[in-house]
Amino acid sequence: KSEDEVVWITYVLRDGTKKKIRGKVGDNVMYLAHRYDIELEGACEASLACSTCHVYVDDAFTNKLDEPKEEEEDMLDQAPALRPNSRLGCQIILRKDLDGITVTLPQMTRNFYVDGHKPQPH
Ligand code: FES
Repeated sequence: KSEDEVVWITYVLRDGTKKKIRGKVGDNVMYLAHRYDIELEGACEASLACSTCHVYVDDAFTNKLDEPKEEEEDMLDQAPALRPNSRLGCQIILRKDLDGITVTLPQMTRNFYVDGHKPQPH
């Protein structure tokens, strides 16, 4: 792949470790994570029918992303531990202006709880 297609992305894993990945323009943040064995779920295969691909987007990049679609908002509403910078990973497609983006995996999803307790609805 040519250099101007390269988009670096850092995933902050649930244990706090950072994984910097050399992605490219057009990569889907959820599928890219899967290619590198990062435990970002994607239960519905990017069809906006789950919220398990929930990530927090680095503040420097939240405004660069397109506004979430209504379907994405609806799904995010069901994600535990929602924050203002919450997005669905499967809806983030890498672009050149997103080079250097960091996304953080939440401590829990609807299917996965770090501490073994079911999250309280917010
Ligand atoms: Fe289900 Fe993203 S994988 S909404």
